[in-house]
Amino acid sequence: MKKQIIAASLTLAFGFAHTAASAQSAGSTVNVICSVQAEWCNLISTVYAKTTGVKINMSLKGSGEALAQIIAERENPKTDVWFGGTGDPHLQAAEQNLTLEYQSTVMPQLQGWAQQQAQQSKFKTVGIYSGPLGFGYNTEILKKKNMPVPQTWEDLTKPIYKGEIQVANPASSGTAYTMIATLVQLMGEDKAFEYMKRLHKNISQYTRSGTGPIKAAARGETAVSISFIHDAPGEAMQGFPVLAITPKDGTGAEIGSMSIIKGAKNLDAAKKFYDWALSASAQELGAAAKQFQVPANKGSKVDSRVPDFKKIKFINYDYAKYGASTERRRLIAKWEKEVNSLPR
Ligand code: F6P
Repeated sequence: MKKQIIAASLTLAFGFAHTAASAQSAGSTVNVICSVQAEWCNLISTVYAKTTGVKINMSLKGSGEALAQIIAERENPKTDVWFGGTGDPHLQAAEQNLTLEYQSTVMPQLQGWAQQQAQQSKFKTVGIYSGPLGFGYNTEILKKKNMPVPQTWEDLTKPIYKGEIQVANPASSGTAYTMIATLVQLMGEDKAFEYMKRLHKNISQYTRSGTGPIKAAARGETAVSISFIHDAPGEAMQGFPVLAITPKDGTGAEIGSMSIIKGAKNLDAAKKFYDWALSASAQELGAAAKQFQVPANKGSKVDSRVPDFKKIKFINYDYAKYGASTERRRLIAKWEKEVNSLPR
């Protein structure tokens, strides 16, 4: 099966084989921090190496942890490209001048939201996928414990879900920060923090990684997760009884992003990888690795398991405001102090 996926992906990416010679001349390795799931990171590495001859040194990190590493390495960057992860920390990196301005020739092929992410950062980052925040749930546990499928944010605070919900920690996870920013925009800051304090009573665990909670829901370790809903079908395809839903009262979406690191040692190779990663065929590798975000390239085929945005009630997420470093730092620190420190 794995071999078939790689074979299909190689065919997809075959159009790029002609770039092999020039990529090789630009350097034979590129150092990438990858903030999507391991399956997608690994497939990218394999396909890119096979089609271009360029080796990717890949290190996997959640969005918040990736940003922390890039800040720590600022004087002597060891990373060339940061691929994936929620857009807010990429915008923060851009604002802190940690990432490099680069306008790919592929830019006109991208969806409006992906280009907007680039324009907002003066081309120091770019959107590569998008996906809505919602709730994952284990259908068997809900049935066994006679719990309804939560329909709204408020539902999650009901006593019936006490100890039954997982979400990630916003310091390490972009998913969890997207939740805080979404709630603040949906309810207003005071009410959102009041809400998160009530929600806190029902949380069994704040995980490091944003995808931890939906994996736990899939495996029956928790009944409900707060997650990006595009992460549910991949778990269900492995045979786990997991589904996802978006809250009826409205939700936010991430613009998963990619940035070239300022001071990248392999700059030409970084730019070539970046162009390739934005191409229609490379963007289809997400679905080939069972990852169902909406691809940024308008020419990419959209898998039927990708969430249909037209059926979801979205808030008008202010990416510039919630990607600003002072705002992101302030909200995470406030959550630590006012929510996470409370007993459960
Ligand atoms: O890879 C799955 C995913 O949900 C991405 O869509 C998202 O950008 C990323 O995880 C966020 O991970 P984390 O919350 O750990 O930063």
